[in-house]
Amino acid sequence: MTATQPTILLVEEEQSVRSSVENLLRDEGLHLLEATNGKEALKVIANSAADLVLLDLHMPQMDGLVFLERFRRFHNNWITPVCVMANASEEGGRRRAADLGADDFIQKPIEGVELRTRIRSLLRIGHYQKELRTLNTQLERHVQERTNALSANMNKLEAAHQEIDLAHRETVLRLTLAAEMQDECTSAHLERMSHYSALLAEKCGWSAENVALLTEAAKMHDIGKLGIPHQVLNKAGKLDEEEFAVMQQHPEIGARVLAGSKSKLLQMGATVALTHHERFDGTGYPQGLAAKSIPQVGRIVAIADVFDALMTRRSHKSAWSLKSTVAAMKREAGRHFDPDLLTLFLEDTRALVEIHTRFAEDSTWEHSTSIPMGKQIVPDTADVKGVVARFR
Ligand SMILES: [Fe+2]
Repeated sequence: MTATQPTILLVEEEQSVRSSVENLLRDEGLHLLEATNGKEALKVIANSAADLVLLDLHMPQMDGLVFLERFRRFHNNWITPVCVMANASEEGGRRRAADLGADDFIQKPIEGVELRTRIRSLLRIGHYQKELRTLNTQLERHVQERTNALSANMNKLEAAHQEIDLAHRETVLRLTLAAEMQDECTSAHLERMSHYSALLAEKCGWSAENVALLTEAAKMHDIGKLGIPHQVLNKAGKLDEEEFAVMQQHPEIGARVLAGSKSKLLQMGATVALTHHERFDGTGYPQGLAAKSIPQVGRIVAIADVFDALMTRRSHKSAWSLKSTVAAMKREAGRHFDPDLLTLFLEDTRALVEIHTRFAEDSTWEHSTSIPMGKQIVPDTADVKGVVARFR
C-alpha cells in the first residue's frame, strides 16, 4: 500500500464474491482489506482506516445492518462512504441500510464496470468530504482564535471604559466637593443626598440608567458655590439682604458651569444645580418656578437635600430626630415640597435610615451615626424653614 493508495474494506461472507471483487479491482491501484462478517470488520476498522466500505448484508455473527449501525456511531466514520452489495430482491434490507447511512448500492451479481465506476465516484465524494471536514476544522480553530483575540480586546476596552467612567465621575465629585468644602458640607452628605434622590427617582419609575445618572448628578447641586465669596458662604450670623442675594446666585452659577455639555450626566447636573432651591409654592429661587413647572429632578433633589440637612448636625444646629424631621417636612408639603413626591419619599423611612447609616459622617463631624429614633434633639415645633434658610 502506498500513502496515496485508497483503502477499501470488503465485508463479505462468501469467498467467491470476495475473490470476484478482488479480481475486478486488481488494476485500480487500491489497497483491499477483507472481513467475513460485521464483527471481524469492526476489528479490522479499529486498526486500519478505510476510505470506503463494500458491505454485504447477510453474514453470520454480525450482519451488515448491525455493522453499519455501529460503524456510523464513531465520529471518524461519519463521512466514510459505505456501498451495500445486495440482490434485487432485498428491498427491505436496502431500505433499512439507507436509513442507517448507506451511501450507495450495487447489485449482485457484481458487474465490473459498475463496481469500478461506483467506487471511483464514492472515493471522490469521500475525498471531498474529508477536505471539507479539514477546512471546517481549520475554520473553527481560526474563528475561535479570532473570538479569543476579540474577547481579550473587548475586555481591555471595557476596562478602559470603566477607568474613564470612574475618572469622569471622580472628577465631577472632586469638583463638587471643592465647592462644598467652602462651607460645612462633606462627601458623606453628597453620598446620602444623592442616594435619597436615587431612591425617590426609583419610586417615581425612572429607568435604571437615569437613576444611576441622578446618583451622580445630585451631587452637583451646589457646585455653583465655587462662585460665591468665602465671607458670604461662611458668615457666622444671618445673611443680610445683599448677602442673601449673592448667595442666591449659586444655582445659576452652577447651571452655567455645567451647561452646554453633550454628557447626559452634566446636562442633568445643570438642571439639578439650577432648580434645587425652587419651591413648590413658587417662592423659591432663582426663577420662582412653581409646582410641576419645576423639573421633577429639581423637586426630588430639594426633598433629599433638606432631609439630609435636618438629619445631620451642622455648626448652627443639632441633628434632628427622624420623627422631628418627618413632621417638619410634612408641614412643608405643598409649600416647599411637591406633596406627592414627599409622600413617596417618606413612605418607607427604614430605607432612608439605611442610607443615613451607610454613609455616616466620618470623625471630622461630631455627629451620631445612628438615628436617634424618637429621641428629641430639637422640638417637633421646630420650623424647617429656618433651618433651610440657614442651609441655603
Ligand atoms: Fe444649594
